[in-house]
Amino acid sequence: MKTEIEAEDKISDLKPLKKIVKMGQREGWGLIKILQQVQVEYGYLPKDLLKRTAEMLKLPYGKVFGVATFYAQFHLTPRGRHIIQQCDGTACHVKGGVRVGRFLREELGIGPGETTEDLKFTYEVVYCLGSCGLAPVAMVDGRVYGELSVDKMKKILENLE
Ligand code: FES
Repeated sequence: MKTEIEAEDKISDLKPLKKIVKMGQREGWGLIKILQQVQVEYGYLPKDLLKRTAEMLKLPYGKVFGVATFYAQFHLTPRGRHIIQQCDGTACHVKGGVRVGRFLREELGIGPGETTEDLKFTYEVVYCLGSCGLAPVAMVDGRVYGELSVDKMKKILENLE
């Protein structure tokens, strides 16, 4: 069950965007900083929002779209309330990360980079969280969980609202 919400979503409230662009121009922010602030405000960067941002900044849409798609920190589709980043780096892979990943895909019904339809979970695969000694590892909402098993992962999911 992945979300099919496309990045064409129309933005109805442009006030926050105008405020960010105005502040960015006043403070001399670069495009990346402006997009970061826009994403914090709206949660993600649908194409409509990128088009409006480009218009307000008097920049070509292609440039704004290019920056938004180049950097992994920017998301053009909605993200879940809970972000699960499962490590599939070498240490985690050989120590059981494969089973944890299979469980997550089956349990959530989505693949890497996807978000559940109810916008509860976004599942991502990463390739080292810097905690190889605790392999297999996953980061959930910014917190690292180590020595994972399928049961441990199941309990972590159950405790998320
Ligand atoms: S390989 Fe998974 S934390 Fe380093």
